[in-house]
Amino acid sequence: MNGKITVFGAGNVGGAVTRRLIERKLCKKVVLVDRSGSKAAGVALDILEASPIDLLEPVCIPMDDLEQTRDSEIVIITAGARRQEGMSRDDLVRVNADIVRDCVGKAVKYSPYAFFIIVSNPLNVMCHVAMRAGQIPRTRITGMAGILDSCRFAYFIAKELGVSVENVQAMVLGEHGEDMIPVPRYSTVAGVPLTELLPPEAIERLAARTREGGAEIISLMQTSAFYAPASAVIQMVAAVVMDKKKILPCAAQLSGEYGIEGAFLGVPVKLGANGIEDILPLELTDAELAALRRAADKGKALLALLGEPC
Ligand code: 2OP
Repeated sequence: MNGKITVFGAGNVGGAVTRRLIERKLCKKVVLVDRSGSKAAGVALDILEASPIDLLEPVCIPMDDLEQTRDSEIVIITAGARRQEGMSRDDLVRVNADIVRDCVGKAVKYSPYAFFIIVSNPLNVMCHVAMRAGQIPRTRITGMAGILDSCRFAYFIAKELGVSVENVQAMVLGEHGEDMIPVPRYSTVAGVPLTELLPPEAIERLAARTREGGAEIISLMQTSAFYAPASAVIQMVAAVVMDKKKILPCAAQLSGEYGIEGAFLGVPVKLGANGIEDILPLELTDAELAALRRAADKGKALLALLGEPC
């Protein structure tokens, strides 16, 4: 492993991911790419000026100079427009599909064997767009969303119960959108199923807040979240570079799992050095399966809107 990781997008998420990669020493070289070279240069200079303390200098380059990304082991796509207050993630589909196609199409020319982590929204569809743009095998592309949504759910559960966040394992599957599926019976507090600790109405209140988690952040700071998304990306990178074979809720392309073919949806995947090494089959209720299928159908409709075969 040459330890090279490339991040496309020097926005809030891309900058935060770059810093966290350095802090966690998860790479030997990190290349930050942005369409507006000055933006990448500005974010980079800010990060570089911390390098006497952080001891790793990221390489920051504009989109027309990708040679330095060559043979990246992991490529993280954060590039894209952010939603404004009142917008849904799906509203970004056209503008971000063009950006993601451009980034992935270029990235794969220099790093044909990289593992791709997609962050751009609408996440589930952008994974599909990226896979097609780069002709990437399904084991080498995933989307970051389930971990972010599960972290939000876990945090809300911990605050509701007055316990440490370290005690809480939460699971949110499906779409990174209003049809996401918080799964209380697979969420635990010190190993105890959440359903034994909170009444249904309290669980639903926390699940509803989780579904709106991204919008809540935007309403408070007029821009999308970036610290929690960056932490979620870092957990995925660590699982791959350290070959953890960690089970994490990530967007993966289903090939018959859960009775769904082709769609990218958040499911429990085993992440290791070979990328997505397995997709775990969980028993889901009819309502949960229906939400998965709704999300799959919504993804198909958005792909059709883009003129992408699905
Ligand atoms: C979120 O949920 C940006 O989609 C991301 O905050």
